[in-house]
Amino acid sequence: MSKFWSPLVKNLTPYVPGEQPKMANLVKLNTNENPFGPSPKVVEAITAELNDNLRLYPDPEGDALKSTIARYYGVQSDQVFLGNGSDEVLAHIFYGLFQHGQPVLYPDITYSFYPVYCGLYNIDGKTVPLTDSFEINPDDYKQPNGGIIFPNPNAPTGRYLALDKVEAIVAANPEHVVVVDEAYVDFGGESAIKLVGQYPNLLVTQTLSKARSLAGLRVGFAVGSAELIEALNRVKNSFNSYPLDRLALAGAIAAFDDENWFRATTEGVIGERDWVTSKLEALGFEVLPSKANFVFARHPDHAGETLAKGLREQGVIVRHFNKPRISDFLRITTGTADQNKRLIECLVTLV
Ligand SMILES: Cc1ncc(COP(=O)(O)O)c(C=O)c1O
Repeated sequence: MSKFWSPLVKNLTPYVPGEQPKMANLVKLNTNENPFGPSPKVVEAITAELNDNLRLYPDPEGDALKSTIARYYGVQSDQVFLGNGSDEVLAHIFYGLFQHGQPVLYPDITYSFYPVYCGLYNIDGKTVPLTDSFEINPDDYKQPNGGIIFPNPNAPTGRYLALDKVEAIVAANPEHVVVVDEAYVDFGGESAIKLVGQYPNLLVTQTLSKARSLAGLRVGFAVGSAELIEALNRVKNSFNSYPLDRLALAGAIAAFDDENWFRATTEGVIGERDWVTSKLEALGFEVLPSKANFVFARHPDHAGETLAKGLREQGVIVRHFNKPRISDFLRITTGTADQNKRLIECLVTLV
């Protein structure tokens, strides 16, 4: 605390990212990174950009990447917005589209950055409880609001909401923006991007951090009606004209161009996730059905915190949230086959 801080900063509760520990030989299953690594073509494209052009600013609009994404999803370039990770895209959404006097709705158990953005921008947030089985019930979103946001699949539960139910929420709220945060959609879900042509109030965000294994590059995007995208461009151009550097733009384009790598690694993650699920169930865990690159699991006889500590002592890091309703759960990122085997071997000693 300092007298130099603004009153807003004094009252901020910042987001706490998953730990990036510096220990050797660690099995790191705590921040939902992709175990398989990016396409070699991405590394090639980035390497090719390491030249004298780095003295020049990158394209502020990222037009080549926008066109690539637009082509990939069958939309127009002016329906695509780019940001430095989808976290930045989300920040601009809260600032540019969610300040309407009514509370923004999001699930009680969800991505913990949403309440942080509410705090940063002085927006009233209202949590909507998930059902007892940790599902989103579309009927619960038929109430006055200044916008709605939820991840699909949800994080940290991994539960997926079928597209017709997503559509029901969007259709029931024509006066407000509904944001579907699809950070994990490629691991078995169906994207709501195919609905943006029908619903001017629908905005879908995605990231290259998960299925495209580029968390270190920081590229995220949103797809929606040109009017919504224009609002985000206004915020972005009042904040940072060049959110994506030359390396990020080149790498991201290459990632979309290597569909084979994307499919093979995504299938690899799904296969490993399902293997981990079956092993956890055999050990007596309750595992929520997941369509993400992680699972959310609890054991009837062992506290989540104790299990997380026990794993850590054996060099396996998972995420534990000390929060109401979910304090007995562990969120376990899908690792490589070797990492997953190690996880299960360690858990055998703990349950
Ligand atoms: C639900 C959800 N949305 C968005 C993000 C942000 O991803 P990034 O900023 O890496 O694109 C994450 C990261 O873990 C997430 O879990």
